Amino acid sequence: MRKRSALNGWRIAEASRILAIACLLLCLSGKSISQISVQTKSVPPAPMGWNSWNSFANIVDSAIVQQQAKAMAANGMKDAGYQYVVVDEGWWLGARDGAGNIVVNPKQWPAIMPGQKDGDMANIAGYIHSLGLKAGIYTDAGRDGCSMYPDSGESYMHTGSEGHYEQDFLQFSKWGFDYVKVDWCGGAKEKRSGAVQYAEVTRAIQRAEKMTGRPLFFSICEWGSQNPWFWAPGVGGIESTVWRTGGDIIPPVVESLHDPEHEKRVITLQNVLDSFDTGMHPEAQHTDYYNDLDMMVMGMRGMTDSMDRIHMGLWAIASAPLMVGSDLTQLSPDTLSLLTNKEALAIHNDPYGLQPIKVAEPAVAIEVWAKPMAAAGRRAVAVLNRTDVLAQVNIDWGKLGLDGIPRSLRDVWNGRTVAAEPAFSVPAHDLVLLSVEGEDKKPAEYPASESSIVGIRATSGPTFAQLEYVNRSGRVAVVRVTSQSGFSTALALPPTTGSDTGTVGLILPRGIADLRVEPQRAVIQRLLVYSWSSS
Ligand code: GLA
Repeated sequence: MRKRSALNGWRIAEASRILAIACLLLCLSGKSISQISVQTKSVPPAPMGWNSWNSFANIVDSAIVQQQAKAMAANGMKDAGYQYVVVDEGWWLGARDGAGNIVVNPKQWPAIMPGQKDGDMANIAGYIHSLGLKAGIYTDAGRDGCSMYPDSGESYMHTGSEGHYEQDFLQFSKWGFDYVKVDWCGGAKEKRSGAVQYAEVTRAIQRAEKMTGRPLFFSICEWGSQNPWFWAPGVGGIESTVWRTGGDIIPPVVESLHDPEHEKRVITLQNVLDSFDTGMHPEAQHTDYYNDLDMMVMGMRGMTDSMDRIHMGLWAIASAPLMVGSDLTQLSPDTLSLLTNKEALAIHNDPYGLQPIKVAEPAVAIEVWAKPMAAAGRRAVAVLNRTDVLAQVNIDWGKLGLDGIPRSLRDVWNGRTVAAEPAFSVPAHDLVLLSVEGEDKKPAEYPASESSIVGIRATSGPTFAQLEYVNRSGRVAVVRVTSQSGFSTALALPPTTGSDTGTVGLILPRGIADLRVEPQRAVIQRLLVYSWSSS
């Protein structure tokens, strides 16, 4: 039987779905297949791109977005894989026409090309597409959006989509947007259940996708308030592959406002470390489903070169969305070269997309984080020094499930091969990122042909595992992981086709765990559990 990753299985299933939609549209319109462009919904590594909020807050407009998109297309970021240009809060101030359609300010979103109308968001989406990039937009799951608590200027109510889900998500898709971030200011104000509300949003997005034939990537932003990592991947019909894990990394820093409040704002290392620490839920992240540590602040006021290295290293090893919130026209060559570092991006884009496990803390605030990778014997290691003195750190390779010392070790920042011994020097407030190749210790194998495996042992720490399954239901199946200590989370198993087996990389919680998959949807075939340990 040919093995294929869940990623490919999902792509193919989505391609068939989109093809079916295209065929339907074709019959209705009487067009030939060559006249219709069929788009496949790809599920790439955690999304990479730019978001307007951190540097422009609610003063965002067409000119700003055009400049940023142009910069991304020209400065090497597009070539490195950054693709989304996302317009965050402030693009719409809550006005609707008599039929409930969103009405935007025509001066803020004017025509860009001859023949276009002022006040049509399709203009900016089209502009972004003309540069070979993808367009993102923003709304709120509640009735009122975050504009009721403005960063600057007046407060606006009714900037959320509740009561208009079907209409708004269809509108975003018709305008040509490829990505939507759905915030939680209104949901929180109304004390809603995130799981219920975001499932409704999913249905509206799926309906819009069917009607336009255009994929709309869905990013949940409820700040971790209701532990979305436990339900966002597939529970109750939700289909989001990215969920925010915490509050905002910083309040926005809008240089052009020249406002005393903004002038005071300086990013600290603690801002970056707090977002990382809050976002570590490695047992919930799994292939194609990502904890979102928030938009990046690299190169912004207060960030130094070593803070940039820590930021890039942690977001890359966590396979977190790389949505850069900086002003892309102002990035220094050093910041740009970190953002586009090929070896760091290869760690980020690893097909299993897992978060790292903290395998050691040899001294207070000196940490060794190791990420299991899809290829046999591959690991990424981040040695983080949070202290203000130089640290010498030895790595116990056995804790990473490796047999002996690695045969190859690359220092990612310098692109050089280094020796596995002796200790690594990590300057104060800095991070060394390593790409490692060695020999896996033999994994324990748990065979199964049913819907569960019980008594899985990960007693020496959270542990890397590979799950093989078949899911011919055509829909995402959910596998529940419970441990004897009371931990419980849900992982999504995308559909497989034909005789193919899907493979998902995951991290088991410490202790003894059971896996149970929704019966009738998927069958577990095998679980390989690697021998990791942490202090
Ligand atoms: C919330 C989100 C931010 C941003 C702002 C806009 O705070 O977490 O990412 O979208 O809203 O107001």
